[in-house]
Amino acid sequence: GGPIAFHGAHQAGIATPVQDRLHFASFDLGLDDPKKVAELMRRWTAAAERMTTGQEVGTGATGAELAPPDDTGEALDLPASRLTLTVGFGPTFFEKLKLPAPDRLKELPHFPADKLDPARSGGDICVQACADDPQVAVHAVRNLARIAFGAASVRWSQLGFGKTSSTTPEAQTPRNLMGFKDGTRNIAGSDRAALDAHVWVGQEGPEWLRGGSYLVARRIRMHIETWDRTSLKEQEDIFGRTKREGAPYGAAREHDPVPLDKLPADAHVRLAHPDSLGGVTILRRGYSFTDGSDNLGRLEAGLFFLAYQRDPEKGFIPIQRALAARDPLNEYIQHVGSGIWACPGGVRQGSFWGEALF
Ligand code: HEM
Repeated sequence: GGPIAFHGAHQAGIATPVQDRLHFASFDLGLDDPKKVAELMRRWTAAAERMTTGQEVGTGATGAELAPPDDTGEALDLPASRLTLTVGFGPTFFEKLKLPAPDRLKELPHFPADKLDPARSGGDICVQACADDPQVAVHAVRNLARIAFGAASVRWSQLGFGKTSSTTPEAQTPRNLMGFKDGTRNIAGSDRAALDAHVWVGQEGPEWLRGGSYLVARRIRMHIETWDRTSLKEQEDIFGRTKREGAPYGAAREHDPVPLDKLPADAHVRLAHPDSLGGVTILRRGYSFTDGSDNLGRLEAGLFFLAYQRDPEKGFIPIQRALAARDPLNEYIQHVGSGIWACPGGVRQGSFWGEALF
């Protein structure tokens, strides 16, 4: 497809169609002057406007012979590949800059069985780069990191290679590394009523955050080898959906409504379904990852879970509380990284990321 518009009422990369690849980066600030951070956001926005339309950053990869090029060059000749860049600010961002944090931006509570690695968690600023070509996503993060030199540096980053969610229900639902269709019952990017109700921050938020969203990221390791020794029946019971079709128990087709009482009482889909949790709903946008193998020869693989919501207390937090307590999937997964950020509303032409905040 053609480029995805960078400007608009909402940041691209949330409700827009999910691309094939992810490079997610968490940055820490090296300074505490909001004016300098505003300047960084202005420069980042200018670079993002160019990269998301397939143009080179600044004066380009071959602008001046005697200076390091403004653009690192590895995306030359590649199309924009539907690149989107989405930015968010974490609780520590507001502490460092002594700016008022939005009410709903609080560090996540500890959930049972969390085994979070601080080196893969948190961060003052997050950048979610999604594109259909991994080289384009990596190029984007690399060039933003380069621009940030002296102001912010990468704390951790995560590559993702296969989408495990969809905002386009008419398209084939992708599968996660457990082999199940993932993202069947997600918010469609065209469902404005659901997005307004569950994803976009409204009048309750500060001006800069209206039309924005809260992002929760979780690096979830999968114990793939144990999963692969589990019977098909048990695998299907765990989700309450069939593997090939993705149909909920008690129904024939993938997109049939979920007859909750036909699913095992602790099935993942039953526990996470809005009807089990008083209407709680998130927009999922996660990716599979495989970072090679660990020193025991096991795949270092899993799901880099990304969820957008209007209020984490009516989104990720109650769902994860229910799942952490009862989900039989817990035997096969472990949450090892975590972060939460407030993603500002969309960027208008001539403005920059989070301008109204500074
Ligand atoms: C549904 C897999 C973690 C929330 C599903 C489905 C699968 C799945 C296969 C059914 C298809 C669908 O409707 O998308 C996984 C795996 C996970 C994981 C493999 C971990 C590695 C999580 C987490 C949350 C979550 C951490 C939120 C805290 C949901 C929700 C649904 C869902 C809200 C839709 C329920 C419905 O409305 O029917 N998941 N999931 N999942 N999952 Fe997960």
